[in-house]
Amino acid sequence: MNGIEKSPLDWVYEFASGPLVWIAIIGFLGGGIYKLVTMAQLAKQEKVIFPTMSAKHGAHSVLHWIIPFANRNTRMRPAFTIVSFSFHLCLLITPLFVMGHAVLWQQSRWAISWWSLPSGLVDFMTLVVVFACLFFAIRRLAAPEVRNVTDWTDYALVLLVASPFLTGFIARMQWLPSKVMLTLHIICGALWLLAIPFTRLSHMFWFVFTRAFMGSESGKVRSAKDW
Ligand code: HEM
Ligand code: HEM
Repeated sequence: MNGIEKSPLDWVYEFASGPLVWIAIIGFLGGGIYKLVTMAQLAKQEKVIFPTMSAKHGAHSVLHWIIPFANRNTRMRPAFTIVSFSFHLCLLITPLFVMGHAVLWQQSRWAISWWSLPSGLVDFMTLVVVFACLFFAIRRLAAPEVRNVTDWTDYALVLLVASPFLTGFIARMQWLPSKVMLTLHIICGALWLLAIPFTRLSHMFWFVFTRAFMGSESGKVRSAKDW
């Protein structure tokens, strides 16, 4: 005995920063692969899907929908388009290049060197995600066409999406005790990763395929454009 007692916070922190990180990474990758494979099997049962697919029309459609204002729908909703594209860009890039994450990879047993973006830029991109989530929540309250198809799970999901960014930002600013904040951040980050394959956030995996199918169906079957 060295006389130093572990507090409940120490236990939670050790669990969160150890096993929970692995559970989250394995759950995200394993869940993603499982969802993609089962969806491919379902698509195979629907006899029309694979024969309809066309590489040319599919790629055209995906390109027109991942470039802002390259399709009529995004041109009709400029404010939403700017928020949504900035949100997704910051959401996907920021976690990969946060200095705090790069340091953890460096300190891991594999001593992986990784790039990080300047911290001022990371702070800005983090806030873009948080404010975009606030925008999505307010839009769901204010715009009747989305309010009618909204329930509490939509707000919960938006809150979950924002949570690792909010807690990561507060941890970095050291506004609250750092061990508490870091523990909260890791728990939010793990739930975020686990939620992607198992909730509507799995649209991340489907976007390319649904878009390619719609583009193929429009181009190959109807000789029309879907953008
Ligand atoms: C699950 C394992 C994770 C661990 C162990 C972890 C750890 C950390 C650490 C140590 C920091 C630095 C805090 C500081 O400077 O005091 C940090 C910051 C940050 N993390 Fe994570 N994180 C994890 C997951 C995530 C996820 C999944 C996301 C986003 C989806 C995320 C987003 C961020 C952001 C945006 C910041 C920095 C905010 C800023 O500098 O303004 N983290 N994280
Ligand atoms: C390559 C990956 C992704 C693509 C292509 C994508 C695409 C989309 C699209 C097309 C929309 C509908 C709104 C619009 O037309 O702009 C959307 C909304 C959204 N996405 Fe993604 N997404 C991706 C990844 C993610 C991830 C990883 C998350 C979070 C973990 C996420 C969270 C959201 C949220 C919160 C919304 C708005 C929901 C609302 O209106 O309340 N997306 N995404």
